[in-house]
Amino acid sequence: MKITVVGRGRVGGGLARLWENAGHEATPLGRDGGDAAGADVVVVAVPGPAIADALAKVSGLDGQVTIDATNLYQERDTTFPSLSHQIKSIIGGPTAKSFSTNFAAAYDRIAQQRVTPSNLFAAEPDAKDIAEQLIRDAGYDPVYVGDLDPGARLLEDSSGLTRALVAQYGPFFYRYGRPGEL
Ligand SMILES: NC(=O)c1ccc[n+]([C@@H]2O[C@H](COP(=O)([O-])OP(=O)(O)OC[C@H]3O[C@@H](n4cnc5c(N)ncnc54)[C@H](OP(=O)(O)O)[C@@H]3O)[C@@H](O)[C@H]2O)c1
Repeated sequence: MKITVVGRGRVGGGLARLWENAGHEATPLGRDGGDAAGADVVVVAVPGPAIADALAKVSGLDGQVTIDATNLYQERDTTFPSLSHQIKSIIGGPTAKSFSTNFAAAYDRIAQQRVTPSNLFAAEPDAKDIAEQLIRDAGYDPVYVGDLDPGARLLEDSSGLTRALVAQYGPFFYRYGRPGEL
């Protein structure tokens, strides 16, 4: 797959490396932007407050399948129910939210785990298969929480719990399983 990653920091740069290792062609873009035309999927990995600025500098986004990896640690723009909805209002394609509850600092240790770590994601139907594949190709087990409504906001609102846990454990993995699976 051709993947344009908007953001080349810990998340964007880290995911691009994982996907390149899995055989994809990943192009990370920094704050100067670039062109996403011809990509199979666009991944957004910039700070929540920088979404509009970052996407304004990228051409070729219109209607692309999108995966939003962003979080927000300040007041949200209440025009949108979630950051994913804000991103969808700009790009306009089928949208998923994923990687927002997984630590970039642990990307290089995913493959060493005894069990495959989970990755919670929400997705509109036409973005679900691509999101699921890229979650697997990054090394995680995808756990679907439902459509973007209300899944994206549920994932964003879980960042307080994540921060409480990281204060206790440092960067961590998690695994969801039905009874008998763990
Ligand atoms: N770090 C994590 O473990 C983690 C986990 C889950 C979700 N997230 C979320 O993922 C997103 C990215 O986090 P990160 O840790 O990767 O951040 P980061 O390492 O600071 O990287 C941020 C990236 O966004 C770009 N950027 C920053 N300000 C921008 C602006 N005003 N306009 C355009 N681009 C801008 C930067 O461009 P330059 O390269 O040009 O500086 C950089 O490539 C955030 O929403 C964060 O909350 C982070």
